[in-house]
Amino acid sequence: MNSKERFLAACFRKPYDRPPVWLMRQAGRYLPEYRLLRSRHDFIELCKNPELSVEATMQPLERFRLDAAIIFSDILFVPEAMGQTLTFNEGEGPRLSPVISSPDDLSGLKKPDVLAAFKFLSDAVTRARKKISPDIPLIGFVGGPYTLAKYMTRDNAKGWVRKHPEALKELLEKITDVLIDVVELQSRSGADVIQIFDTWAGELSDDDYKKFALPYVSKVIAEAKACEPFILYCRKCGHILEAMASSGAQVLSIDPETSIEDAIAIVGERVALQGNLDPKLLLTTPGFVKQETSRLLSKIGGRRGHIINLGHGILQTSLPECVEAMVDTVIHGGK
Ligand code: CP3
Repeated sequence: MNSKERFLAACFRKPYDRPPVWLMRQAGRYLPEYRLLRSRHDFIELCKNPELSVEATMQPLERFRLDAAIIFSDILFVPEAMGQTLTFNEGEGPRLSPVISSPDDLSGLKKPDVLAAFKFLSDAVTRARKKISPDIPLIGFVGGPYTLAKYMTRDNAKGWVRKHPEALKELLEKITDVLIDVVELQSRSGADVIQIFDTWAGELSDDDYKKFALPYVSKVIAEAKACEPFILYCRKCGHILEAMASSGAQVLSIDPETSIEDAIAIVGERVALQGNLDPKLLLTTPGFVKQETSRLLSKIGGRRGHIINLGHGILQTSLPECVEAMVDTVIHGGK
Protein backbone atom coordinates (compact mmCIF):
# COMPACT_ATOMS: atom_id res chain seq x y z
CA MET A 1 0.00 0.00 0.00
CA ASN A 2 1.36 3.45 -0.75
CA SER A 3 0.79 6.42 1.56
CA LYS A 4 -2.13 7.79 -0.41
CA GLU A 5 -3.94 4.44 -0.49
CA ARG A 6 -3.24 3.98 3.22
CA PHE A 7 -4.40 7.51 4.13
CA LEU A 8 -7.64 7.28 2.15
CA ALA A 9 -8.29 3.78 3.54
CA ALA A 10 -7.92 5.24 7.06
CA CYS A 11 -10.30 8.12 6.29
CA PHE A 12 -12.97 5.81 4.87
CA ARG A 13 -12.38 3.06 7.46
CA LYS A 14 -11.33 0.48 4.87
CA PRO A 15 -8.72 -2.19 5.62
CA TYR A 16 -5.09 -0.93 5.68
CA ASP A 17 -1.62 -2.35 6.39
CA ARG A 18 -1.03 0.13 9.26
CA PRO A 19 -2.27 3.56 10.39
CA PRO A 20 -0.81 6.48 8.41
CA VAL A 21 1.12 9.21 10.25
CA TRP A 22 1.61 12.99 9.84
CA LEU A 23 1.86 15.94 12.24
CA MET A 24 -0.30 19.04 12.52
CA ARG A 25 1.88 22.07 11.70
CA GLN A 26 4.60 19.71 10.49
CA ALA A 27 6.37 22.55 8.64
CA GLY A 28 7.63 25.13 11.10
CA ARG A 29 10.20 26.59 13.40
CA TYR A 30 11.33 23.32 15.03
CA LEU A 31 13.08 22.57 11.71
CA PRO A 32 16.45 24.34 11.14
CA GLU A 33 15.77 24.42 7.39
CA TYR A 34 12.47 26.25 8.05
CA ARG A 35 14.22 28.76 10.32
CA LEU A 36 16.70 29.41 7.52
CA LEU A 37 13.86 30.02 5.04
CA ARG A 38 12.17 32.32 7.60
CA SER A 39 15.36 34.32 8.12
CA ARG A 40 15.05 35.39 4.48
CA HIS A 41 11.26 35.81 4.14
CA ASP A 42 8.48 36.77 6.50
CA PHE A 43 5.69 34.29 7.19
CA ILE A 44 3.06 35.93 4.97
CA GLU A 45 5.52 36.04 2.06
CA LEU A 46 6.22 32.30 2.52
CA CYS A 47 2.50 31.59 2.26
CA LYS A 48 1.78 33.92 -0.65
CA ASN A 49 4.70 33.02 -2.88
CA PRO A 50 3.71 29.60 -4.31
CA GLU A 51 7.31 28.53 -4.88
CA LEU A 52 8.25 29.27 -1.26
CA SER A 53 5.03 27.74 0.07
CA VAL A 54 5.80 24.50 -1.78
CA GLU A 55 9.36 24.55 -0.44
CA ALA A 56 8.04 24.83 3.14
CA THR A 57 5.41 22.15 2.44
CA MET A 58 8.11 19.72 1.31
CA GLN A 59 10.66 20.31 4.08
CA PRO A 60 9.21 17.86 6.62
CA LEU A 61 8.69 15.23 3.88
CA GLU A 62 12.34 15.37 2.95
CA ARG A 63 13.36 14.60 6.52
CA PHE A 64 10.70 12.16 7.74
CA ARG A 65 8.79 9.30 6.13
CA LEU A 66 5.43 11.01 6.58
CA ASP A 67 2.26 9.65 4.96
CA ALA A 68 0.85 13.08 4.03
CA ALA A 69 1.82 16.60 3.04
CA ILE A 70 -0.18 19.66 4.15
CA ILE A 71 -0.09 22.80 2.07
CA PHE A 72 1.82 25.61 3.77
CA SER A 73 -0.66 28.44 4.33
CA ASP A 74 -2.78 29.83 7.16
CA ILE A 75 -6.42 29.85 8.20
CA LEU A 76 -6.46 33.65 8.58
CA PHE A 77 -6.26 34.52 4.88
CA VAL A 78 -10.06 34.11 4.78
CA PRO A 79 -10.74 37.07 7.12
CA GLU A 80 -8.10 38.98 5.18
CA ALA A 81 -9.96 38.33 1.92
CA MET A 82 -13.15 39.54 3.64
CA GLY A 83 -11.52 42.91 4.27
CA GLN A 84 -9.54 42.74 7.51
CA THR A 85 -5.80 43.43 7.52
CA LEU A 86 -3.69 40.51 8.75
CA THR A 87 -0.40 41.02 10.55
CA PHE A 88 1.89 38.67 12.45
CA ASN A 89 4.08 40.47 14.96
CA GLU A 90 6.98 38.69 16.61
CA GLY A 91 5.92 37.21 19.93
CA GLU A 92 2.35 38.50 19.64
CA GLY A 93 0.66 36.05 17.30
CA PRO A 94 -1.72 37.04 14.53
CA ARG A 95 -3.83 40.20 14.52
CA LEU A 96 -6.79 41.19 12.33
CA SER A 97 -7.66 44.88 11.99
CA PRO A 98 -9.98 46.63 12.21
CA VAL A 99 -11.52 44.31 14.78
CA ILE A 100 -15.22 43.39 14.39
CA SER A 101 -16.40 44.91 17.65
CA SER A 102 -20.14 45.39 17.11
CA PRO A 103 -22.88 44.00 14.85
CA ASP A 104 -22.69 47.24 12.83
CA ASP A 105 -19.20 46.27 11.68
CA LEU A 106 -20.53 43.25 9.75
CA SER A 107 -21.72 45.43 6.86
CA GLY A 108 -18.08 46.38 6.23
CA LEU A 109 -17.13 42.78 5.42
CA LYS A 110 -17.06 41.85 1.78
CA LYS A 111 -17.77 38.69 -0.15
CA PRO A 112 -14.45 38.20 -1.89
CA ASP A 113 -13.77 37.02 -5.41
CA VAL A 114 -12.24 33.77 -4.14
CA LEU A 115 -10.54 32.84 -7.42
CA ALA A 116 -8.64 36.11 -7.43
CA ALA A 117 -8.05 36.49 -3.69
CA PHE A 118 -6.78 32.91 -3.30
CA LYS A 119 -4.84 32.57 -6.55
CA PHE A 120 -1.68 32.26 -4.44
CA LEU A 121 -3.23 29.23 -2.72
CA SER A 122 -4.55 27.47 -5.82
CA ASP A 123 -1.15 28.03 -7.47
CA ALA A 124 0.64 26.61 -4.42
CA VAL A 125 -1.63 23.55 -4.30
CA THR A 126 -1.24 22.93 -8.05
CA ARG A 127 2.55 23.22 -7.83
CA ALA A 128 2.77 21.09 -4.69
CA ARG A 129 0.60 18.40 -6.27
CA LYS A 130 2.94 18.29 -9.31
CA LYS A 131 6.12 18.27 -7.25
CA ILE A 132 5.24 15.82 -4.50
CA SER A 133 5.06 12.13 -5.36
CA PRO A 134 1.54 11.10 -6.45
CA ASP A 135 1.83 8.35 -3.80
CA ILE A 136 1.65 10.99 -1.02
CA PRO A 137 -1.73 12.62 -0.33
CA LEU A 138 -1.85 16.42 -0.15
CA ILE A 139 -4.02 17.95 2.58
CA GLY A 140 -5.71 21.29 1.95
CA PHE A 141 -7.31 23.14 4.85
CA VAL A 142 -9.48 25.97 6.15
CA GLY A 143 -10.31 27.28 9.60
CA GLY A 144 -13.70 26.45 11.08
CA PRO A 145 -16.31 29.24 10.94
CA TYR A 146 -16.46 29.65 14.74
CA THR A 147 -12.67 29.72 15.07
CA LEU A 148 -12.39 32.39 12.38
CA ALA A 149 -15.17 34.43 14.03
CA LYS A 150 -13.17 34.28 17.24
CA TYR A 151 -10.09 35.79 15.56
CA MET A 152 -12.17 38.33 13.62
CA THR A 153 -13.81 39.64 16.82
CA ARG A 154 -10.46 39.50 18.68
CA ASP A 155 -11.47 36.73 21.04
CA ASN A 156 -15.02 37.89 21.56
CA ALA A 157 -17.04 35.19 19.75
CA LYS A 158 -18.04 33.58 23.01
CA GLY A 159 -19.24 36.96 24.30
CA TRP A 160 -21.38 37.34 21.18
CA VAL A 161 -23.07 33.99 21.90
CA ARG A 162 -24.89 35.77 24.75
CA LYS A 163 -24.77 39.43 23.65
CA HIS A 164 -25.39 39.26 19.90
CA PRO A 165 -26.42 35.71 18.97
CA GLU A 166 -28.22 36.73 15.76
CA ALA A 167 -25.34 38.90 14.57
CA LEU A 168 -22.90 36.08 15.37
CA LYS A 169 -24.97 33.76 13.19
CA GLU A 170 -24.87 36.32 10.39
CA LEU A 171 -21.08 36.53 10.70
CA LEU A 172 -20.79 32.72 10.71
CA GLU A 173 -22.95 32.54 7.55
CA LYS A 174 -20.74 35.04 5.76
CA ILE A 175 -17.60 33.13 6.71
CA THR A 176 -19.17 29.79 5.73
CA ASP A 177 -19.99 31.03 2.22
CA VAL A 178 -16.36 31.94 1.64
CA LEU A 179 -15.03 28.70 3.14
CA ILE A 180 -17.08 26.55 0.76
CA ASP A 181 -15.40 28.26 -2.20
CA VAL A 182 -11.92 28.06 -0.64
CA VAL A 183 -12.34 24.33 0.03
CA GLU A 184 -13.53 23.72 -3.54
CA LEU A 185 -10.66 25.76 -4.96
CA GLN A 186 -8.06 23.65 -3.12
CA SER A 187 -9.75 20.42 -4.11
CA ARG A 188 -9.91 21.42 -7.78
CA SER A 189 -6.24 22.38 -7.61
CA GLY A 190 -5.26 18.92 -6.39
CA ALA A 191 -5.84 18.64 -2.62
CA ASP A 192 -6.75 15.01 -1.85
CA VAL A 193 -8.10 15.58 1.68
CA ILE A 194 -9.46 18.66 3.50
CA GLN A 195 -8.87 19.35 7.19
CA ILE A 196 -11.09 21.90 8.94
CA PHE A 197 -9.27 23.49 11.88
CA ASP A 198 -12.12 24.48 14.20
CA THR A 199 -9.48 24.75 16.90
CA TRP A 200 -11.41 26.94 19.34
CA ALA A 201 -14.97 25.59 19.00
CA GLY A 202 -14.33 23.37 22.04
CA GLU A 203 -14.58 26.49 24.24
CA LEU A 204 -18.37 26.30 23.71
CA SER A 205 -20.74 24.17 25.76
CA ASP A 206 -22.25 21.23 23.91
CA ASP A 207 -25.51 23.18 23.48
CA ASP A 208 -23.79 26.25 22.10
CA TYR A 209 -21.51 24.12 19.91
CA LYS A 210 -24.65 22.74 18.27
CA LYS A 211 -25.97 26.27 17.63
CA PHE A 212 -22.86 28.28 16.75
CA ALA A 213 -20.29 25.88 15.34
CA LEU A 214 -21.69 22.54 14.17
CA PRO A 215 -24.33 23.85 11.69
CA TYR A 216 -21.74 25.95 9.86
CA VAL A 217 -19.04 23.25 9.73
CA SER A 218 -21.70 20.79 8.56
CA LYS A 219 -22.77 23.20 5.83
CA VAL A 220 -19.20 23.53 4.52
CA ILE A 221 -18.89 19.73 4.42
CA ALA A 222 -22.30 19.18 2.81
CA GLU A 223 -21.90 21.89 0.17
CA ALA A 224 -18.36 20.82 -0.70
CA LYS A 225 -19.15 17.10 -0.50
CA ALA A 226 -17.20 16.37 -3.68
CA CYS A 227 -14.03 17.41 -1.82
CA GLU A 228 -14.21 14.65 0.79
CA PRO A 229 -12.69 13.12 2.83
CA PHE A 230 -12.86 15.79 5.54
CA ILE A 231 -10.97 15.76 8.83
CA LEU A 232 -12.52 17.91 11.58
CA TYR A 233 -10.24 19.13 14.35
CA CYS A 234 -11.19 20.81 17.64
CA ARG A 235 -9.02 21.33 20.67
CA LYS A 236 -10.72 20.32 23.95
CA CYS A 237 -13.26 18.21 22.10
CA GLY A 238 -14.21 15.56 24.69
CA HIS A 239 -17.63 17.05 25.48
CA ILE A 240 -18.62 17.69 21.86
CA LEU A 241 -17.42 14.46 20.19
CA GLU A 242 -20.94 13.10 19.85
CA ALA A 243 -22.01 16.28 18.04
CA MET A 244 -18.85 16.35 15.91
CA ALA A 245 -19.58 12.78 14.79
CA SER A 246 -22.73 14.08 13.07
CA SER A 247 -20.91 16.85 11.14
CA GLY A 248 -20.46 14.75 8.01
CA ALA A 249 -16.66 14.65 8.45
CA GLN A 250 -15.09 11.24 7.82
CA VAL A 251 -12.39 11.78 10.48
CA LEU A 252 -12.40 13.52 13.89
CA SER A 253 -9.08 14.79 15.19
CA ILE A 254 -8.81 14.32 18.96
CA ASP A 255 -6.84 16.36 21.53
CA PRO A 256 -4.43 14.68 23.98
CA GLU A 257 -6.70 15.28 26.98
CA THR A 258 -9.48 13.12 25.50
CA SER A 259 -8.88 9.41 26.06
CA ILE A 260 -8.79 7.45 22.85
CA GLU A 261 -10.79 4.62 24.43
CA ASP A 262 -13.55 7.09 25.39
CA ALA A 263 -13.46 8.63 21.92
CA ILE A 264 -13.82 5.20 20.30
CA ALA A 265 -16.71 4.36 22.63
CA ILE A 266 -18.50 7.63 21.76
CA VAL A 267 -18.08 7.62 17.98
CA GLY A 268 -18.43 3.87 17.49
CA GLU A 269 -18.36 2.84 13.85
CA ARG A 270 -19.44 6.23 12.51
CA VAL A 271 -16.12 7.95 11.86
CA ALA A 272 -12.36 7.47 11.76
CA LEU A 273 -10.17 9.17 14.38
CA GLN A 274 -6.92 11.14 14.22
CA GLY A 275 -4.49 11.90 17.03
CA ASN A 276 -3.76 12.18 19.83
CA LEU A 277 -0.18 12.22 21.12
CA ASP A 278 0.74 15.12 23.39
CA PRO A 279 2.93 17.64 21.51
CA LYS A 280 5.06 17.94 24.68
CA LEU A 281 6.15 14.35 24.09
CA LEU A 282 8.38 15.64 21.29
CA LEU A 283 10.44 17.63 23.81
CA THR A 284 11.54 14.42 25.60
CA THR A 285 13.70 11.61 24.20
CA PRO A 286 13.38 9.29 21.18
CA GLY A 287 13.11 6.31 23.56
CA PHE A 288 10.19 7.81 25.46
CA VAL A 289 8.49 8.87 22.21
CA LYS A 290 8.80 5.32 20.92
CA GLN A 291 7.25 3.92 24.10
CA GLU A 292 4.30 6.33 24.05
CA THR A 293 3.68 5.91 20.32
CA SER A 294 3.64 2.11 20.77
CA ARG A 295 1.21 2.54 23.64
CA LEU A 296 -1.14 4.56 21.41
CA LEU A 297 -0.87 1.97 18.63
CA SER A 298 -1.82 -0.81 21.02
CA LYS A 299 -4.83 1.14 22.30
CA ILE A 300 -6.06 1.48 18.71
CA GLY A 301 -5.45 -2.23 18.23
CA GLY A 302 -7.09 -3.58 15.11
CA ARG A 303 -9.71 -0.80 14.89
CA ARG A 304 -10.09 0.37 11.33
CA GLY A 305 -9.71 4.04 10.59
CA HIS A 306 -7.00 5.74 12.59
CA ILE A 307 -4.49 8.39 11.57
CA ILE A 308 -1.60 8.84 13.98
CA ASN A 309 -0.97 12.52 14.72
CA LEU A 310 -0.45 14.94 17.60
CA GLY A 311 -3.43 16.28 19.53
CA HIS A 312 -2.51 19.83 18.57
CA GLY A 313 0.11 21.56 16.46
CA ILE A 314 3.77 20.74 16.97
CA LEU A 315 5.64 23.04 19.40
CA GLN A 316 8.53 25.06 18.05
CA THR A 317 10.89 23.62 20.68
CA SER A 318 10.24 20.03 19.46
CA LEU A 319 13.28 17.88 18.76
CA PRO A 320 13.52 16.58 15.17
CA GLU A 321 14.92 13.27 16.49
CA CYS A 322 11.72 12.83 18.52
CA VAL A 323 9.58 13.44 15.42
CA GLU A 324 11.68 10.81 13.64
CA ALA A 325 11.13 8.36 16.51
CA MET A 326 7.36 8.93 16.35
CA VAL A 327 7.16 8.39 12.58
CA ASP A 328 9.52 5.37 12.59
CA THR A 329 7.63 3.69 15.43
CA VAL A 330 4.40 3.91 13.43
CA ILE A 331 6.10 2.59 10.29
CA HIS A 332 7.53 -0.35 12.24
CA GLY A 333 4.17 -1.17 13.83
CA GLY A 334 5.15 -0.13 17.35
CA LYS A 335 8.44 -2.06 17.39
O1 CP3 B 1 0.40 22.02 9.38
C1 CP3 B 1 1.13 22.70 8.62
O2 CP3 B 1 2.36 22.54 8.57
C2 CP3 B 1 0.46 23.66 7.64
C3 CP3 B 1 0.50 25.03 7.94
C4 CP3 B 1 -0.39 25.69 8.99
C5 CP3 B 1 0.00 26.89 9.59
N1 CP3 B 1 -1.04 27.35 10.34
C6 CP3 B 1 1.30 27.53 9.40
C7 CP3 B 1 1.76 28.51 10.40
C8 CP3 B 1 -1.67 25.39 9.46
C9 CP3 B 1 -2.51 24.17 9.18
C10 CP3 B 1 -2.08 26.46 10.30
C11 CP3 B 1 -3.41 26.51 10.96
C12 CP3 B 1 -3.68 27.58 11.91
N2 CP3 B 1 -3.24 28.88 11.86
C13 CP3 B 1 -4.51 27.45 13.04
C14 CP3 B 1 -5.29 26.23 13.42
C15 CP3 B 1 -4.48 25.15 14.03
C16 CP3 B 1 -3.75 25.46 15.30
O3 CP3 B 1 -2.59 25.07 15.38
O4 CP3 B 1 -4.35 26.01 16.23
C17 CP3 B 1 -4.55 28.69 13.70
C18 CP3 B 1 -5.31 29.01 14.96
C19 CP3 B 1 -3.75 29.59 12.93
C20 CP3 B 1 -3.50 31.02 13.19
C21 CP3 B 1 -2.08 31.25 13.47
N3 CP3 B 1 -1.09 31.29 12.51
C22 CP3 B 1 -1.47 31.43 14.73
C23 CP3 B 1 -2.20 31.41 16.06
C24 CP3 B 1 -0.10 31.62 14.50
C25 CP3 B 1 0.97 32.00 15.50
C26 CP3 B 1 1.48 30.82 16.18
C27 CP3 B 1 2.98 30.85 16.26
O5 CP3 B 1 3.55 29.75 16.32
O6 CP3 B 1 3.57 31.93 16.27
C28 CP3 B 1 0.12 31.49 13.11
C29 CP3 B 1 1.41 31.55 12.41
C30 CP3 B 1 1.85 30.30 11.72
N4 CP3 B 1 1.03 29.54 10.93
C31 CP3 B 1 3.16 29.73 11.73
C32 CP3 B 1 3.12 28.62 10.88
C33 CP3 B 1 4.27 27.73 10.50
C34 CP3 B 1 4.38 30.29 12.46
C35 CP3 B 1 4.87 31.43 11.62
C36 CP3 B 1 6.30 31.74 11.75
O7 CP3 B 1 7.14 31.06 11.13
O8 CP3 B 1 6.60 32.72 12.44
